[in-house]
Amino acid sequence: MSVRSLCIKIRKIHGERTLVLITKLGIINRELKIQPNKNHISIPLVRSPNEIELGKLKAELLHFELETKVFAKKKTQGKTLHQVLEDQLPSNLLASLPRALDIIGDIAVIDIPLELKTHKQVIGEALLKTHKNVQTVLAKIGAVSGIYRLREIEQIAGIKKTTTTHKEHGCQYQVDVATAYFSPRLSHEHNRVASLVQKGETVVDLFAGVGPFSVLIAKKNADAKVYAIDINPEAVEFLKKNIRLNRVDNRVIPILGDARQAVEDKLLGVADRVIMNLPEKAIEFV
Ligand SMILES: C[S@@+](CC[C@H](N)C(=O)[O-])C[C@H]1O[C@@H](n2cnc3c(N)ncnc32)[C@H](O)[C@@H]1O
Repeated sequence: MSVRSLCIKIRKIHGERTLVLITKLGIINRELKIQPNKNHISIPLVRSPNEIELGKLKAELLHFELETKVFAKKKTQGKTLHQVLEDQLPSNLLASLPRALDIIGDIAVIDIPLELKTHKQVIGEALLKTHKNVQTVLAKIGAVSGIYRLREIEQIAGIKKTTTTHKEHGCQYQVDVATAYFSPRLSHEHNRVASLVQKGETVVDLFAGVGPFSVLIAKKNADAKVYAIDINPEAVEFLKKNIRLNRVDNRVIPILGDARQAVEDKLLGVADRVIMNLPEKAIEFV
């Protein structure tokens, strides 16, 4: 959309200086796009400069013109969670709003602090407004625990579901966040580790989950072979789906069971690299 607006026209070489000055004076119109011409630029203004402001403009910029022109509107930025909730939450609670959020496919997983628990539905609805790609908002209940490394979650807004497809480094992962571990926060680590694998290597991923290391390694290295083990049957079902989905069949071999047992049974001495993504416990498997 475009609108007619008063503007200041100056030579391009004075553009930077003019921007600084009219920003200081508070008369720049940030909702409209600056218009470049051949040797000049036209910067939209929110109003005519008053006499004092005009004096400053004249003192600092030798040549400029004030005129009216048609400008394109800038795309408006979506509102933040804080902005959406400004009128709906007591102001003392706004400061407690969580800043971090895990987005897995079209599911958002949020940690709601105790003092905001009674407002969880309102917060969930607000998140659906600020994150257009999110269909479901889940709240964490407690920490990750148990051998499967899962946490309890509850749906607080949107569609009632826990299964989604997450995209990461060109791969797709189907996951049920209620029954199998997956963390988008490990995205960089998945890629870093996968990038270390060399041509023709065999990798054993002892605690593979739904496959974010194993699948990516096979995807990046056409001749790498990965044995992907997990003790959680649900995780291994998703791992199998993700192997097919990403077309790395035959090169990622899913194994359901205890990592120690699987290695003892058939994998002793096969690995060029071993991935042990089980914080605190991994050392027991060395
Ligand atoms: C922290 S998760 C990591 C999953 C995956 N590597 C990732 O990045 O998403 C650890 C995984 O280890 C699995 N696990 C725990 N103990 C195991 C064991 N003894 N043998 C095989 N897998 C195990 C859990 O089921 C869980 O999926």
